[in-house]
Amino acid sequence: MINVNDNFLKLPGSYLFTEIAHRVAAYKEANPQAPVIKMGIGDVTLPLPAASIMAMQKAISEMAHKESFRGYGPEQGYDFLREAIAAEYKQTGVDLAADEIFISDGSKSDCGNIGDIFSTNCKVALTDPVYPVYVDTNVMAGRAGELLPNGQWSNLVYMPVSAKNGFVPELPKEKVDLIYLCFPNNPTGTTLTKDQLKVFVDYAHKNGALILFDSAYEAFITEKDVPHSIFEIPEARDCAIEFRSFSKTAGFTGTRCGYTVIPHTVKAKGSDGQVVELNKLWLRRQCTKFNGTPYIVQRGAAAIYTPEGKQQVRQLIDYYMGNAKIIRESLLKAGFEVYGGVNGPYVWMATPNAQSSWDFFDYLLKEKNIVTTPGVGFGPSGEGFIRLSSLGSRENTIEAMGRF
Ligand code: MLT
Repeated sequence: MINVNDNFLKLPGSYLFTEIAHRVAAYKEANPQAPVIKMGIGDVTLPLPAASIMAMQKAISEMAHKESFRGYGPEQGYDFLREAIAAEYKQTGVDLAADEIFISDGSKSDCGNIGDIFSTNCKVALTDPVYPVYVDTNVMAGRAGELLPNGQWSNLVYMPVSAKNGFVPELPKEKVDLIYLCFPNNPTGTTLTKDQLKVFVDYAHKNGALILFDSAYEAFITEKDVPHSIFEIPEARDCAIEFRSFSKTAGFTGTRCGYTVIPHTVKAKGSDGQVVELNKLWLRRQCTKFNGTPYIVQRGAAAIYTPEGKQQVRQLIDYYMGNAKIIRESLLKAGFEVYGGVNGPYVWMATPNAQSSWDFFDYLLKEKNIVTTPGVGFGPSGEGFIRLSSLGSRENTIEAMGRF
């Protein structure tokens, strides 16, 4: 028998959202009539923007004719989409070349795969609670060490966020190499100001670290002074990689498209001291392991940058943020302790009477038929919280708040 990658054996149970799906499926099987409302995984419910549908239909027609048929595309994405994204960044004052943007099948894949280009010796810092992909993929790569009884990993550096620090992570006390930041935050729905984010950029510069900035939820920002991109801080061009997604922004959770931005100025070194552009390494990695996002999907994604596409996306976001407002205000009115939901589609709620996250999850599922995400699934500091997604329908959101 061959040996497996032992790091996989260190991972506890199943992936968070798989575990939730199992529990919900078991409950529904036993209670087929139960009117279950899903506010767990951040999955969208409204259809794709009409502009994307039309662009994809046109792309399908192109595939039907020899003259316009497309086979393998460029692994890093078609120029038409990379250029449209660069033009969009430019409007917010961020100058990027199209070849600094890599199209993919979603930012979950990119956040997980990016670890391929870093040494397994890199010291990793992340917030707690945190999107579990950052943790689990570092466990798989062997960077996380061992799982401790308190739910933390021995080699990861945790930056706890809670109401006590206003959900603003403190800088790591020890020197780290990679820092994962996700703002607007998954799971808490909270944000950093530009000045608060700049503290991390300054740290990265001073310590030769790299920030992996997940801005999958930037389209949901409603307040001023909340940065949409880490590259709004000019110094970040040397020390940050940014991940973005069409999933929540334009309803592509099932259609799959995202992108990663790696400026040519972001560099690191090999163990022999040679300095390399991370952009080049990522291109090498993608060309070897990835065959590109389908042409049809990329056409659909590019359509969100047309005037009609922009307007349709705005409507989608406004609808979901309307749900977030209903969730936030209903729970506050009912006397719960609640955060987020203003610049992101998630609401972070303290469980009543300090119940454990899973106990309250089970209670809500069985007694109220509402699916949430237990906060502890995002890390030990999430214990005593649940996360509610506002990406469902308006009717279900209102019905669920009534049940609360
Ligand atoms: C979430 O619910 O945290 C997200 O939908 C998961 C994801 O984007 O992979």
